[in-house]
Amino acid sequence: MEHLFIQGKKDVTLLLLHGTGGNEHDLLSVGKQIDPDANILSVRGNVIEYGMPRFFKRKAIGVFDEESLVEETHNLCDFVRSSGTKYKFDCKKVVAIGYSNGANIAVSVLFHYEQAFQKAILFHPMVPLRNIDLANLKGTKVFIGAGKADRMMPEHEVEELTQMLHSANADVEVFWTEYGHQLSREEIKAAQAWYQNKSQAHFEE
Ligand code: MLT
Repeated sequence: MEHLFIQGKKDVTLLLLHGTGGNEHDLLSVGKQIDPDANILSVRGNVIEYGMPRFFKRKAIGVFDEESLVEETHNLCDFVRSSGTKYKFDCKKVVAIGYSNGANIAVSVLFHYEQAFQKAILFHPMVPLRNIDLANLKGTKVFIGAGKADRMMPEHEVEELTQMLHSANADVEVFWTEYGHQLSREEIKAAQAWYQNKSQAHFEE
């Protein structure tokens, strides 16, 4: 996959996953704000929709091509693993940071794999798949950034996703803003505070 890797000063790797029409440069400043010392692996989605990179195909806005989603979910996990070998980072210490379409594939990874991510920061995710046996996410910490005026991701879907992740034993926190689908400064700050808090707790465990 098209990507960039930035070596950090500690053994944690942020996996950055952009929204539709974005690329591997989009979330670099967000990643740096969340953890300036971590490695960064930022990936460009494999699928092109009218010239716009995405992480999986869709049939219409909000209607996903599940076959493509599942295939790309496995591709992304394989890619992270092979990058771990290439760049010598610990695949057990990966923190996903995804926005919109990137958050949706991160959710799909969480649904499929038990230990793919130590933590996940999901900005404006949806429920990308239903009727799936969820992986056991005990020990996985998830932050969800959501907007009350987000028409792509209505409140009931945020609740459904939270429920699903809880039922898979993840530790989930949801942060609400009054905004729509855009990535807001408030939620990035909240994610940063959440990340520091959870990293500290992890250290003390
Ligand atoms: C998706 O296709 O993943 C969602 O509709 C969000 C987006 O447009 O990227």
